[in-house]
Amino acid sequence: WERGEGPRRGAVSAFGMGGVNAHVILEEAPEAPVRAGAVPGSRVVRVTGADETAVRALAAAYADRFDAARDDWETADLCHTANVGRSPLEFQTAVVGRDAAELATALRAVAAGRVPIARADGGHPAERAPEDAAPAGAPHGPADVADVVALVRAGHAHVDWAALSPPGARATDLPTYPFAAQKHWHTHRAAAPAAPPAPTAPAAAPAAGTDRRPEALRVVWDTAEAPSPADVPGRATVCPVTSDPALREALTAALRDRGAVVVGTAADADTVIVVDAPGGPAAEPPDLSAFWTELADLVKRLPAHGTLLRVGHHGVAVHGAERARVRPETAATAMAVRAACAESRKHSAVVDLDPADPVEVRARQIAAEYAALPHGSGTGPGTEPPSGVLAAYRRGVRYAPRAVAAPPGPSYDLHGDGYYLVTGGLGAVGRLLIRRLVDRGALRVGVVGRSALDADRSAELRDLSRRAEVAYLSCDVRDASALADAARRFGARWGRLRGVVHCSGRVNPFGAMHRRPWSDAVKVTDPKITGSLNAVRLARERGADFAVLVSSIAGSMARAGRGLVDYSLANAYQLALAERENGTATTVTAHAWPNWTGTGMEADASYSAAHSLGADEAADAFLDHLRSGGAVVFPGAAPTPARNGSAVPSVPAGLSVPYAPADSAAPPAPGAGLPAEAGTTGPSPLMTRAVPVRDAARPGTHPAGARTRGATPAPAAGGPDHAVMRGHVRDAFVHVLGEDPGDRAIRTLGLDSLVIAELTTVLEQRGGRTVDPSLLMRAGTADDLASALVADTQPSPGAPPAPAAARNGTGDGAGGPHLPAPKAPGAPGIPSALSALLHPLLAHDRDR
Ligand SMILES: NC(=O)c1ccc[n+]([C@@H]2O[C@H](COP(=O)([O-])OP(=O)(O)OC[C@H]3O[C@@H](n4cnc5c(N)ncnc54)[C@H](OP(=O)(O)O)[C@@H]3O)[C@@H](O)[C@H]2O)c1
Repeated sequence: WERGEGPRRGAVSAFGMGGVNAHVILEEAPEAPVRAGAVPGSRVVRVTGADETAVRALAAAYADRFDAARDDWETADLCHTANVGRSPLEFQTAVVGRDAAELATALRAVAAGRVPIARADGGHPAERAPEDAAPAGAPHGPADVADVVALVRAGHAHVDWAALSPPGARATDLPTYPFAAQKHWHTHRAAAPAAPPAPTAPAAAPAAGTDRRPEALRVVWDTAEAPSPADVPGRATVCPVTSDPALREALTAALRDRGAVVVGTAADADTVIVVDAPGGPAAEPPDLSAFWTELADLVKRLPAHGTLLRVGHHGVAVHGAERARVRPETAATAMAVRAACAESRKHSAVVDLDPADPVEVRARQIAAEYAALPHGSGTGPGTEPPSGVLAAYRRGVRYAPRAVAAPPGPSYDLHGDGYYLVTGGLGAVGRLLIRRLVDRGALRVGVVGRSALDADRSAELRDLSRRAEVAYLSCDVRDASALADAARRFGARWGRLRGVVHCSGRVNPFGAMHRRPWSDAVKVTDPKITGSLNAVRLARERGADFAVLVSSIAGSMARAGRGLVDYSLANAYQLALAERENGTATTVTAHAWPNWTGTGMEADASYSAAHSLGADEAADAFLDHLRSGGAVVFPGAAPTPARNGSAVPSVPAGLSVPYAPADSAAPPAPGAGLPAEAGTTGPSPLMTRAVPVRDAARPGTHPAGARTRGATPAPAAGGPDHAVMRGHVRDAFVHVLGEDPGDRAIRTLGLDSLVIAELTTVLEQRGGRTVDPSLLMRAGTADDLASALVADTQPSPGAPPAPAAARNGTGDGAGGPHLPAPKAPGAPGIPSALSALLHPLLAHDRDR
């Protein structure tokens, strides 16, 4: 197209029967002026967004774009585009810099929260703008742009932005506003579950024929407000622990900006921030032994008001596209942190970061979460331990988890060719689920477990054989080749593997994490970590339709993991593994169950009073969610009914006995009511009243021979023995709870059985005597407790060593300090029934 006198013009027409009626005339662009030489002066960039989070996210994206600017003119173009090529939104800020590198650094400071963001104030009159802002056409020196920046950060909305662009600046490509990624469409909600019965009422069995389904939930991640900074006390110390020197440096600076005193050793810190290295794919199964020991040590050393902030990467899938990158070991260790802190009543927070975010941005995000922690406010005895703050950041945007209803998965016909494999199938849950699979049409079920079939279980399987083929093979799920061999043998007989239900698992007795060696914890984690990896791999390799991992709410609720941190860790691994492994060919689902009332392990017993499900109801929900995919949580609701119709609660009595004040309704025993010894400072319920000890398992009864308190004259408070014992009591409280209760009533401290077990153990270690745990429940104050201990306990030297079985449930108690055996009920000087119930627990832990 040859150039003539005038500009070249063209036209495009479109007219159609459908109503198109358009004629467009195009004219060639004017010749671009030659832009040579350096662009003088500083540059200013405005960042605006619908909210603060959007401004910070946009600043992060701008920073990346400025990094890619090739020369000063492109930098000027980028500033021009940001300032005049974007509509102003409600929130704004501005930065200044001499070149692209300075601007990128300043923008990252915005992204990291170090630069204030203002709500644009439309109230500033437009006519004031020329005086406020840099005058149009004036040289764009540092003073001018600095003024503009100050005005923008103060909320002035009317700035003549075009006047700040050098002549010749052009619009260019620049990231646009980030999407808020928030869903606003109507989501299907499962029918609301029937209102849970009052906590004291027995669990109502679902009426025959009703379609009552337990609540099922999934976790989704929503964009969330930046955390609100709390007051960081002047002397608050924090220790960042990371193997990345650049992050440590940036984090130290960011924490100092927030007013924290950064210290080099965790032992001196009120808050410890442990940042997991992003790293590549971890070994599977992961070796968590070092993590376990370090966590136990950290939590033990943390002061009572302290916080453990754990930072990981890829522990959660904030967006669906991230699922394949989820690291189950990160999810598992994060859960262990939360459970361990809940157990020892310390604060925890878990933050999942985007390794793609620059180091400074991540450092700012961690510092912002740190600043929002409840500094210096220990949870204190008697208050519910916190479950831990959870947050995630992706591309500068903060997210928080939210539970939404999980509708049942696609229906699945269990009839047909092939077979189902149930691991741990001789266990209580496994047996119930096999029966339920057969009830719903499964024709062939292969069962594996490590034990040999006993008479009872083989009778149960034979009973099912009338309706389906059921066969058992002995196999340890931790051994991948043994599991594959079992599948090969079942397959040779029945053909295709259609689905795997992984029920193998075990639980350790309740106990504090810092006294549980990894060699014990691994017995719980192995079948759930290695076993789950093997089960899922087998299902996928054989093209099975589904794999279900039978998991627990201890893997998703920190409080449910108290005393069971290993179990919590293992179940969290299963839940995250299902999120990662779920695919189109083989659906992988992990079910987080509460306690199944009336069946199986007592793993969730600590939580069962408030969180349990009837076993039949749970088995129905299992089938509904056979192919839901990912992690499905069943929080449960019904209170636990008595097992087998007996009055024995499913929660081990020693772990659930509520505090019974010394002056409870129990009738006084003969010899009661002795006055306190002269010299005591006042009447103490412990010393002046006889309190028959009640049998925890049978309320209202008094075990034969139960000793009455108060018959022993109390030593004078303040005597030498008392002073020593009071010192032991103080030490024990400080060791376990982080503080001495002083004159406060012990019953107001809300001690639960785990804490009592710990206190008892420490008292025994310090005092070298057997301590009756029930004294802790009946003493008025720490002083009373010291007096009672002086009066009540006898020194142990010369006492025969405890039989091994009494010291340790497995009898392998070599190596631990010697402890006297618990006194046998009925013997003179016997401890209470409660004490007898608690003793196996204490004895188990003592040898650690
Ligand atoms: N019962 C509940 O209320 C409840 C609540 C929430 C979650 N769960 C979960 O449900 C699952 C089953 O619990 P349950 O109550 O049925 O417990 P259970 O009665 O103790 O059964 C567990 C079974 O796992 C088997 N097992 C353990 N380690 C194994 C290994 N390495 N290889 C093969 N099999 C192994 C055991 O058999 P061998 O020792 O013979 O191998 C046992 O039969 C567990 O994963 C548990 O976390 C149960």
